[in-house]
Amino acid sequence: MRPPRVLVTGSCGLIGSEVCLHFSRAGYSVLGIDNNQRAVFFGPEGDTSWALQRLRRTVPDYVHHDLDIRDREGVLRLVQEMRPEVIVHAAAQPSHDRAAQIAFDDFDTNAVGTLNLLEAARRWVPESPFIHMSTNKVYGDGPNALALAERATRWDYADPAYRLGIPESFPIDQSLHSVFGASKVAADVMVQEYGRYFGMPTCCLRGGCLTGPNHSGVELHGFLSYLIRCNVTGREYTVFGYKGKQVRDNIHSEDVARFMLAFVDAPRRGEVYNLGGGIDNSCSILEAFALAAQVTGREQLWTYVDQPRIGDHICYYSDLTKMKAHYPGWGITRSLNATVAEIAASWAERLAIR
Ligand SMILES: NC(=O)c1ccc[n+]([C@@H]2O[C@H](COP(=O)([O-])OP(=O)(O)OC[C@H]3O[C@@H](n4cnc5c(N)ncnc54)[C@H](O)[C@@H]3O)[C@@H](O)[C@H]2O)c1
Repeated sequence: MRPPRVLVTGSCGLIGSEVCLHFSRAGYSVLGIDNNQRAVFFGPEGDTSWALQRLRRTVPDYVHHDLDIRDREGVLRLVQEMRPEVIVHAAAQPSHDRAAQIAFDDFDTNAVGTLNLLEAARRWVPESPFIHMSTNKVYGDGPNALALAERATRWDYADPAYRLGIPESFPIDQSLHSVFGASKVAADVMVQEYGRYFGMPTCCLRGGCLTGPNHSGVELHGFLSYLIRCNVTGREYTVFGYKGKQVRDNIHSEDVARFMLAFVDAPRRGEVYNLGGGIDNSCSILEAFALAAQVTGREQLWTYVDQPRIGDHICYYSDLTKMKAHYPGWGITRSLNATVAEIAASWAERLAIR
């Protein structure tokens, strides 16, 4: 009998590459799809070919498909031929800011690419769990309307109802999303629909800041990875608005992959989870500067632009109550400090900095 197969889209990205490794260790054979589109979206600094080389070294029998998920016939054919037991969809145009300049590419990738995969799954492997990486940007700037309290180094929710963060019941429409957030809403709702309408085992993971040593962070995407890259290389980091007190919750990509395996072991239909570091792994940008400096011993160079990014969250952290209730065996294993240290070590190694 052959081992079960997982098909991972965006296999050379932060999440995809972690999923490949994690599922391989769990006994899956891994098929990856990635056309290095990140280098097209973000230029040479977004290039993920190093990640492909590493996958080939570290994931036994890894099979790579240099396929564009917008290629409908190609996606249908691959799923028909391979019949994967699990599909993890992590390919995307992932940047809020970049999307406005490339609206067609953004929508075709995020929304239509997701539909191509869903339809392929429905036709050929409707019982295979389908895990979609969604984003907290589906909530648009709705969280910014919540009452906030200003602390010395961060914003926080003033209303005790949000003490543990934003739950999945938070409204997703009638707010400003950015072009990226809107294309991800389309995908998120479609993944839910294939779960509810067709009864497929699908879930949407609405990510906070997903991070880790495998990230190729760039200014427009991957805040913590990029911030630490700036720290280790002595590059100035630009803070956009909100006094640098804007809060994000950070989760190590391995904890993301661990959740996916938990879902595959006990799949549910049309589910939605907020997946981030939660309150314990949240930090403001100012606090992230201090954490990075603590780890590297270098003070962060930074500059301030008094203009927030459009639709940026002032304070966002995920309420993890629902996923912990559905999957009590899962929890965060990496503290924020440990993650920062891993990212700093990885940049030092990749950029050969002593
Ligand atoms: N990193 C985060 O902080 C974060 C937060 C919330 C949600 N997410 C979501 O998680 C998912 C993965 O994010 P990531 O951080 O790993 O991004 P990433 O950019 O590191 O990885 C995405 C990968 O998909 C590939 N790709 C893009 N378009 C493609 C196409 N048309 N065909 C084939 N491959 C293509 C890219 O080359 C890249 O390697 C995305 O859906 C993203 O929206 C990420």
